[in-house]
Amino acid sequence: MRPGAGVPAGPARRARVRALAKINLDLRVLAKRPDGYHELRTIFQTISLADIIDIAFTPGRKTSIELEDELNIPDNLVVSAARLATEAIGARGRVEMRLAKRIPMGAGLGGGSSDAAAILLALPVLAGRPLEAGKMRELGEQLGSDVPFFLLGGRAVGIGRGSELFPLPDAPARAGVLVAPGIHVSTPDAYRHLSPRLTSESPQNKISSFQSQTWDLASEAPAANDFESVVFEQHGELALLKKRLIRAGASTAMLTGSGSALFGLFRNRDEVTRTIEEWKGSGMPDLYRISLVNRARYRAMWWRALGPYIDRRVWPPRSYNLQ
Ligand code: C5P
Repeated sequence: MRPGAGVPAGPARRARVRALAKINLDLRVLAKRPDGYHELRTIFQTISLADIIDIAFTPGRKTSIELEDELNIPDNLVVSAARLATEAIGARGRVEMRLAKRIPMGAGLGGGSSDAAAILLALPVLAGRPLEAGKMRELGEQLGSDVPFFLLGGRAVGIGRGSELFPLPDAPARAGVLVAPGIHVSTPDAYRHLSPRLTSESPQNKISSFQSQTWDLASEAPAANDFESVVFEQHGELALLKKRLIRAGASTAMLTGSGSALFGLFRNRDEVTRTIEEWKGSGMPDLYRISLVNRARYRAMWWRALGPYIDRRVWPPRSYNLQ
């Protein structure tokens, strides 16, 4: 079935939702923790690139979860999210989902996590039983470290595994270029390679420079992504792409997450247009024009998607603190 053809008609409650990608405006890995995860300091930011998910819920006596996606992605988090959500609200019925994948995978853009968060947000609403915010975050954490961020959107500091979040004020919608070189970086492998090097710089130094970044992103405090050292060593072409973005005029150019996508943020939209036009014909990997999506726009997007089913005064939740 074509994405966009709509979920088949019936007594279902349905919606089309956009699951946005993220970039990390800063990412410091401090140390490996006893639970095997790494302690992070990061700044997440939602961007305009998005997957599209059609989702329908039809009440019934039995629960079934069906997903159609053009790529047949194995172990799709969307299915796990739907299972967790229906169990948590005790709803029974047929869940039909269709995923149109637009966000490159294995690129550090959080596409799978965003898809999962979109299901946690939308499915309980369609089933008429919105999840309580603390529960939604708990399920998000079970699904993956980045999932809770997508319940919030906009710009936020992530600490701990990356799932403890502190929303930052909305920033002006800046434009940028995203380059997705088609290299699949495994996140667990990237952490494994980075881990032995974490003793070379004191966590306190990293925390101080991270704090300067968070305090004033427009400042000259250098942004950093600790994964660049290991990922650029393995894929030299990514280091060259970063240099090209800076030469093209990007004020910030960096790997996102554990890569392999890189983003460049520019001072004005004309520079973005010029860069994309110049690079398009020259055998460059996938190029995307992106803009930063702030929390107000993120919330408005959810209101548009689920308008008839929600109370805008209280949904989506503004905070996901654990109870
Ligand atoms: O949480 P998520 O399932 O997305 O993480 C994937 C893998 O990335 C983990 O199994 C772990 O190896 C690594 N990871 C980590 N520290 C984090 C987040 C992820 O070591 N803060």
